[in-house]
Amino acid sequence: MPVILEKKYENGISLAIWQITEQHDELQAMLPSEILTDAELASISHPQKQIEFFCSRLVIKYLANSLGINYLGIKKDEHGKPYLAGTDWQMSLTHTSNYVAAVMHPSRSLGIDMEKPTEKLSRIKHKFMSEAELASTENDFENLCIYWSAKEALYKLYGKRKVIFNENLHVSPFEKGVSCIQGRLLINEIDKNYDIYIERIDGYILVVAG
Ligand SMILES: CC(C)(COP(=O)(O)OP(=O)(O)OC[C@H]1O[C@@H](n2cnc3c(N)ncnc32)[C@H](O)[C@@H]1OP(=O)(O)O)[C@@H](O)C(=O)NCCC(=O)NCCS
Repeated sequence: MPVILEKKYENGISLAIWQITEQHDELQAMLPSEILTDAELASISHPQKQIEFFCSRLVIKYLANSLGINYLGIKKDEHGKPYLAGTDWQMSLTHTSNYVAAVMHPSRSLGIDMEKPTEKLSRIKHKFMSEAELASTENDFENLCIYWSAKEALYKLYGKRKVIFNENLHVSPFEKGVSCIQGRLLINEIDKNYDIYIERIDGYILVVAG
């Protein structure tokens, strides 16, 4: 069973996570040619990246079916933000070498990200965290990963470029082990708060902002 978790959050966002266990050709055969175009396939040369790409479209297809949405494929806007063709539903996706995950909501802007806590984030934390955020957290890899993933998810939620992570994206202080935190998008005329849900799966941190 490829979908290892499906859930709906209090704010109405639906999530599905797919574990990648299938082989390349098996996955490709599961996607009709109007959903997986030759141009899309040609744009991804690495076989592992193709597998992640196939699974990301399949998890979206799975979630759309589960929510009663007619899945006609994914298109991208001028900033690269994906959207579901033929519907106003909002969506976001993330892929790793082991899992892909997607979220959807009928109207709410949202973003998702999945990462493994690594030492690298400790080295670059000044680039993506504000002085206040740095002061409020210890050098704990899981917590740093939550800050990073929350900001990547907020970036995807906003969907446009020229975002300065340590100025425009904020995460309120939180205790280790919590499953919901608060994020804030502060850019141009926008000042909005968002719930950020956290899942811990097989050593990965997955966050959903919306
Ligand atoms: C685009 C970005 C968010 C993708 O994140 P990632 O961890 O590399 O990869 P993920 O698998 O989690 O997400 C990839 C998906 O993000 C989505 N995405 C890409 N651009 C997007 C945008 N502008 N808005 C919303 N979603 C976007 C796509 O659906 C993509 O998958 P696809 O190519 O298969 O359609 C990331 O590469 C990026 O550009 N981050 C901002 C970089 C930055 O400014 N960093 C400064 C930190 S100091």
